[in-house]
Amino acid sequence: MHSQINFGYPWAINYGHLVLAAVLLAVLALGWMLRWRRSVLVVLGLAAAWALAAWTVIRFGVDMNGRATLPTAAFLPSGGGRVLDMGAGTGRSSLMVLEARPRTTLVALDLFGASYVGHFGPPPPGQSVLDEGRAALLCNLRAAGVDGRATIQPGDMRQMPLESSSFDAVVSAYAIDHLDRGGIRQALREAYRVLKPDGQFLLMVIANDRWLKFAFGPLMAHAPMAAGDFWAPEVRDAGFQILEEGTQPATKYILARKTTAAR
Ligand SMILES: C[S@@+](CC[C@H](N)C(=O)[O-])C[C@H]1O[C@@H](n2cnc3c(N)ncnc32)[C@H](O)[C@@H]1O
Repeated sequence: MHSQINFGYPWAINYGHLVLAAVLLAVLALGWMLRWRRSVLVVLGLAAAWALAAWTVIRFGVDMNGRATLPTAAFLPSGGGRVLDMGAGTGRSSLMVLEARPRTTLVALDLFGASYVGHFGPPPPGQSVLDEGRAALLCNLRAAGVDGRATIQPGDMRQMPLESSSFDAVVSAYAIDHLDRGGIRQALREAYRVLKPDGQFLLMVIANDRWLKFAFGPLMAHAPMAAGDFWAPEVRDAGFQILEEGTQPATKYILARKTTAAR
């Protein structure tokens, strides 16, 4: 069990560039002492500078293991309501909502399956992904002091074990974009189904923007879903009216409303 908040994203994503920079600087120093050719030293120096800059972007700009901030003040401005987090993982998006909107209650839904293991690693021997995932999420909710307002619900966001028209808002951060195209459509329709009329849907997805391209090149691309213009038509097709679109570093967000008109 964790006593402090630990979102559990791999260490290498946050600090890999720093390790690379240290190695490149060490080789550069060696080359300097051994009087390697100037062009080689210049290439090593440039590579080390890139690795340091990329680390700064990832660590302080994206900051995957730090608190997420709500991308828009227009999300549940009253501060209250029943919220569903689709693909809650270790709770980063759940905490984002519960801390910024102190009168909300939240259902944190996750499948706790292969995708969970892919992001946060396998459970300890003898423990199921569900048990480990539930425990990690609960620890983070407790450490933030918001566990009294949250419940954990195992389930598949493509077919959720939740009543229709039962939430004031749905949030999904960096989760729906891990599904295939058919799964994305199912999940968006499910978000629509469980929302009350006029309920809000806040979708946050990885955008392969200039920050991610600079740091990772093609390695981090969640293509083709990372393309900026992929999401708005899908969200509209599911029945939503888009209220706001925008970006944060490495993130595209859409705030939408469940329209009452027939789909
Ligand atoms: C990158 S994590 C995002 C976690 C969290 N929302 C955050 O902001 O850190 C993606 C999460 O989506 C979950 N997930 C993937 N497919 C899912 C599905 N079909 N139903 C429910 N959760 C799913 C994974 O288990 C994983 O925890």
